[in-house]
Amino acid sequence: MKALIVANWKMNPPTSREAKKLFDGTKKIASRARGITVVVAPPVLYTREFAKHTGAVSLAAQNVHAEVRGSFTGEISVLQVKDAGVKYCIVGHAERRGLQEGTGESDAQIAAKVQAVTNAGMTAILCIGEKERGAEAKHFNFLREQLRASLPDGVATGRLVLAYEPLWAIGASEPMRARDMQEMAIFLRKLLLENLGSSGQNVKILYGGSVDATTAPDLMKTGIAGLLVGRASVDIRTFTELLRAVAGA
Ligand code: PGA
Repeated sequence: MKALIVANWKMNPPTSREAKKLFDGTKKIASRARGITVVVAPPVLYTREFAKHTGAVSLAAQNVHAEVRGSFTGEISVLQVKDAGVKYCIVGHAERRGLQEGTGESDAQIAAKVQAVTNAGMTAILCIGEKERGAEAKHFNFLREQLRASLPDGVATGRLVLAYEPLWAIGASEPMRARDMQEMAIFLRKLLLENLGSSGQNVKILYGGSVDATTAPDLMKTGIAGLLVGRASVDIRTFTELLRAVAGA
């Protein structure tokens, strides 16, 4: 199966000129990276221009609203991103869920967004992840509940990707250890089967949080289908190294 690498550019780069340069470079390496599907999630403003020539790359939105139209100042709908050439939407990224308790998007809002994305015929990249880990391994229960509450009823599993991004590993100095990810991948698969029945078997699991070329190969051997990459995706050199490392793993 092809590896799935999602480049989450977040709020970078600052100008369309730089964005175009980064996208052109990404397309070039993606076309050579056999066995890897590359998805780029740029700031939504850039997507329509990029969609004119995507080459080997698919486009993602970093966020969408759950309603398809209406009076929602500053929001963007699934129909609008789809019309701009987007095929995937990241939903429930930790930076949108809110890092403080009670701020940001709720699990229920996230479930509604997953529903909107899949109903529109796009693929939802649903992010989950615990804030911290204690000695009592409470994070397993946290993840069980977070996933259950973030999945809409009857979700089309063929349009769902699960991205595990522990908050403590996002924007950190190093990612989660590969051997811990191995255990987590088994646990997440169990949760998918619990929630979705046997079709949960087909949902791809990604890992995200401080991945780079040195850590990607070991993480890719932990039973996951791919990676969600932040900082290492907005510099063409580091992203090239990362894709090469994954291709050679
Ligand atoms: P990072 O971000 O790779 O910069 O840690 C990952 C993410 O938040 O998706």
